[in-house]
Amino acid sequence: MTMKFNLKSLTLTQACAEKSDALLVLLPTVDASQAKQGKDSKASWPLAQTVKGAQANGDFEDKAGKALTLYGAAGVSSRVAVILSSGDGSAKDVRKAVQAGMAALGGRSVKKITLCVADALLTAHLPIAMQVIADATYVYTATKGTGTKDKAGRKLAQVTVGVADSAKAKKAFAHGEALVAGMDFAKEWANRPANFATPTMLGNAAKSLAKAHPVVLCEVLGPKEVAKLGMGSFISVARGSNEPLRFIVLKYMGGAKSVAPTVLIGKGVTFDTGGISLKGGGGMDEMKFDMCGAASVLGTFRALAELKPKLNVIGLIPATENMPSGHATKPGDVVTAMDGQTIEVLNTDAEGRLILNDALVYAKRFKPAAVVDIATLTGACGVALGSVRAGLFSTNDVLTGELLAAGERALDLAWRMPLDEDYAEGLKSNFADVANVAPPGGGAVTAAKFLQRFTETDGAAHFPWAHLDIAGVAWKGGKEKGSTARPVGMLLEWLLSK
Ligand code: BES
Ligand code: MN
Ligand code: ZN
Repeated sequence: MTMKFNLKSLTLTQACAEKSDALLVLLPTVDASQAKQGKDSKASWPLAQTVKGAQANGDFEDKAGKALTLYGAAGVSSRVAVILSSGDGSAKDVRKAVQAGMAALGGRSVKKITLCVADALLTAHLPIAMQVIADATYVYTATKGTGTKDKAGRKLAQVTVGVADSAKAKKAFAHGEALVAGMDFAKEWANRPANFATPTMLGNAAKSLAKAHPVVLCEVLGPKEVAKLGMGSFISVARGSNEPLRFIVLKYMGGAKSVAPTVLIGKGVTFDTGGISLKGGGGMDEMKFDMCGAASVLGTFRALAELKPKLNVIGLIPATENMPSGHATKPGDVVTAMDGQTIEVLNTDAEGRLILNDALVYAKRFKPAAVVDIATLTGACGVALGSVRAGLFSTNDVLTGELLAAGERALDLAWRMPLDEDYAEGLKSNFADVANVAPPGGGAVTAAKFLQRFTETDGAAHFPWAHLDIAGVAWKGGKEKGSTARPVGMLLEWLLSK
């Protein structure tokens, strides 16, 4: 139930006349009273004097996050009008502004919003503005049956985005629409409880996506096919569960056949109990979010299906539960990955790396231009970076630069973490080629070092590779418990910049 956005050419005066429940006006960056848009460039729009007066009296500051809320204003068709300062016009300030606008609407019943972006310079940030509205009005419904209202009690169905020249804003608007559709899809699957998002259900979700959007192809492998491929590491994680594993392969081939694809790999642990190395009970429900990497890949494909860019992208999702049982892998067991490396499983709770490694080996067959894996891999990454930035690990400086920059543009941030060879010291094993955990300290890095072994042979990289540890950023806990859909924003921004 994604909200509908539509784009329109609207002058400020026309936006005021637009029939909707609420009007949000994002003022130009400079002097708010000089609001320019379309033909009414002489500060002649209905609210020009009101805004000017409020500013002069100190009732409305021209600073991002400040809002002037007006009710039943003359010349305005909407019941409520919220005037918003866009600050310095940066993506960050636009985000702040629209957030303030949505907060100002509070619990009011609004079905239709008009967002007037009164400055051509701001149209580049339409995706951010649209994302904020979608975030603020997102409603989880899958297992709730009843309410279609968001947290603030709204029942928003439609947003008209008014800009000076809709033709010039088309691209940014389309990006925004795709972003919102992709993020909603990622949230939908990430938020579902594990009994409504089993590996089989994730596979079916990917298949349905492909069915609804023929530009996306999907193949889902089961236990037999995965065994045939020799993914002994992935299989060792699934052993303890009654739910059969799935290996999901998504293909979006919008580019020329000769162009090497980009591969996205998403960790799809639909529930992580820790296995025999069982986790403590407190807050274990949040381990339903251990497939947020997978959800971000699904969301990115949903966005690609919408935008249809000239790109080739492959999505790989190893999906499984991590459960304790009589069949489960035990600490000390040795398993063999698809590339023949043997692994001593010292801790069955370090399972993410045991499913991603086989996907990384599988990725080689596509001769990819780049491979990015996305995983809620380590609590340690959340400790290191909190919920602001994801951890980015890569030996490739170009790929690192691209991803970091895309994250900055999309306001979906990451921070580069180290991969010094010395960090791999602790992964040595007396009984296998490598152990799946190292002694305490630098847990996010040692996990990444483990993955790195499956992206190269004798130090020679099979492909440019980056690993995003999203353990700290993928979902929020507490009262606001729920998926953030990160890093769909970064991934989409990065792919579209290619
Ligand atoms: N899914 C968890 C990582 C995680 C934990 C993400 C908490 C977000 C919040 C992962 O499978 C895990 O259990 N990692 C262990 C690794 C350890 C056993 C080396 C961890 O982080 O404790
Ligand atoms: Mn775990
Ligand atoms: Zn996990």
